[in-house]
Amino acid sequence: MQAVQKLMKVFITRRIPPEGAKLLSQAGVCEVALWDSDEPVPRAELLKGVKGAHGILCLLSDKIDAELLDAAGPNLKVISTLSVGFDHMAMDEIKKRGIRVGYTPDVLTDATAELTVALLLAAARRLPEGVEEVKNGGWSSWKPLWLCGYGLSGSTVGVIGLGRIGLAIAKRLKAFGVKRTLYSGRTAKAYAGEVGGEFVPLDTLVAESDFVVVSCSLTPDTKGMCDQAFFSKMKKTAVFVNSSRGTVVNQEDLYQALSTGQIAAAGLDVTTPEPLPSNHPLLTLKNCVVLPHIGSATYSTRGVMAELSARNLLGGLQGTDMPSELTF
Ligand code: NDP
Ligand code: DGY
Repeated sequence: MQAVQKLMKVFITRRIPPEGAKLLSQAGVCEVALWDSDEPVPRAELLKGVKGAHGILCLLSDKIDAELLDAAGPNLKVISTLSVGFDHMAMDEIKKRGIRVGYTPDVLTDATAELTVALLLAAARRLPEGVEEVKNGGWSSWKPLWLCGYGLSGSTVGVIGLGRIGLAIAKRLKAFGVKRTLYSGRTAKAYAGEVGGEFVPLDTLVAESDFVVVSCSLTPDTKGMCDQAFFSKMKKTAVFVNSSRGTVVNQEDLYQALSTGQIAAAGLDVTTPEPLPSNHPLLTLKNCVVLPHIGSATYSTRGVMAELSARNLLGGLQGTDMPSELTF
């Protein structure tokens, strides 16, 4: 008589694109419990849901810490996050327990770089202000001095964190006639030559750039990196763009820099907290464009991210290769 193999238990913390869910249900190795909502799972439900799980498919909004790992218990083999960023996960605790981690690099690079360029242009050329003026009757005629902003042609762009996304942003910006591309980070990159990138100290980048783009990962070193001292070194005509993580920026200091004319404008795809409260001071500023963390939000990218995170999860459950395993 053939032994019936027990299915492994998986908890998915949110409704995800069908590409991922389908793969898991067809694999026949796990039974899936899903927080069937577009909104985050409350912490208490999350702790309940992961109990006894062999695998967890989570999002960047789920805090994966010692409490959660304890709640899951000793069965847990793999955590697969539907994101490239992994700052929501306590990696030391995960490592201690020998749990494997999957993430989604590369597949979202183009979408995120494209959105960052759109955000930069929106902030630099004042697109939301222009749209608003058309709607509210403020558009009286073509005026030589009205709604002028800053262009990329002949400019210097500084990329903080020339990783996958930083490089993709720099490549796209090159096509707008950027003259110099500076970058900073922990180490110089051989591939920086693809964009003529010059590796410079952070202070040099901040002082010389017309556009400062933040695309580094959030680490203890980068947390709060963009603060009063940082903004005070920027040109008064410079535009600041952040599509990495909100916590890299001290938002009170950014508000001061924008409201006093210390810098020209800012574009943020990420904030602290998320969502940013609708009465937040930054939202009162015309020279600050804030988006709701939509860097990777194209239909196809989210579908591929879901598929990759499901494949990572299956690899971890079965003890085989994971297409994108985080080594740490
Ligand atoms: P990578 O790992 O390829 O790039 C991260 C870069 O951060 C590396 O080049 C690294 O440089 C740099 N970095 C690390 N520490 C520092 C530091 N102290 N100062 C400056 N740079 C530093 O990741 P990705 O490009 O794929 O993604 C980057 C981040 O973008 C993610 O971690 C995530 O937070 C964010 N993201 C946001 C999205 C959105 O929707 N807005 C979508 C996708 C990602 P070095 O190698 O020299 O350390
Ligand atoms: C990530 O993947 O880290 C983003 O923030 C969302 O795609």
